[in-house]
Amino acid sequence: MQQADLIWMNGELVAWEDAKVHVLTHALHYGTGVFEGVRAYETPRGTGIFRHSDHVERLFRSAGMYFMDIPYTREEIRAATHETIRRNNLKSCYIRPLVFRGAGPMGLYPLDCPVEVVIAVWQWGAYLGEDALEHGVRAKVSSWRRLSHDALIPAAKASGQYLNSVLAKIEADKSGYEEAILLDQAGNVCEGTGENLFVVKDGEVATPPFSSAILGGINRASVIQIARDLGFGVSERAVARGELYLADEVFMTGTAAELTPVREVDDRPVASGEPGEVTRAIQREFLDALHGRSERYAEWLDIVPSRARAAAT
Ligand SMILES: Cc1ncc(COP(=O)(O)O)c(C=O)c1O
Repeated sequence: MQQADLIWMNGELVAWEDAKVHVLTHALHYGTGVFEGVRAYETPRGTGIFRHSDHVERLFRSAGMYFMDIPYTREEIRAATHETIRRNNLKSCYIRPLVFRGAGPMGLYPLDCPVEVVIAVWQWGAYLGEDALEHGVRAKVSSWRRLSHDALIPAAKASGQYLNSVLAKIEADKSGYEEAILLDQAGNVCEGTGENLFVVKDGEVATPPFSSAILGGINRASVIQIARDLGFGVSERAVARGELYLADEVFMTGTAAELTPVREVDDRPVASGEPGEVTRAIQREFLDALHGRSERYAEWLDIVPSRARAAAT
């Protein structure tokens, strides 16, 4: 992670060091925030934000599920993101929009606390490491179950909900694995701590459905489309833990991790222990889409207007 110069905070660009909050910020105490993880890539057409409008839409949906009214329009958030990338002179970056309850009346009832918005950007390499993209990660099924539909809202990307992922991540790391795989309340496979999961068997691709308490990943949707466009059958269905051990290939998708193969689950190598052909074919197409090398998926990139073009509009 490389620090940038400016952070957009409640309508203004402020110095990175000055983007501060009060210690009585509601979200700090109770996790009352929602956020996004987005990536922008250097492409032949300029800096391209991958599926930007889908991320902004999910941000607004997550906020809505927690009764937070974002005091900006979707277009204002989009334009503010463009401006933040431009003013930081970044050609590629990770983008973190965060909407949270600020300091106000203390106590669990949050609706009288102000809703604050920040957009931070910074340079961030491969989340699970360059080697992970190439050779895959070792993963462990977590002893922590993914948060359930009857306690929280798995479809919301809400700050407090991530304590679930944090516990699983720490456990995996302390046990010597790069990533955790969480099961849902029924014991079926759900997802990683910040990634959706796919298994491939006999050329068929399967991924857990929304009823398994997944977050509806934007990269998951992209990869499903790419896999189908490549001619693979894809089903969204319950995936049993044992299928991870029997799979020909396993991989994860997410904004941070992009498409990362899983080479081992619970100390059992996935097939030969090297990423398989289906994973490689989908990954190639997906990376081309992210980096603006694909005609077919060109509309997935929101190109950041240059300074001159932004001034003219
Ligand atoms: C819990 C969880 N699941 C899945 C994902 C993948 O979502 P996306 O592909 O939209 O980044 C993420 C990352 O945002 C996540 O945090």
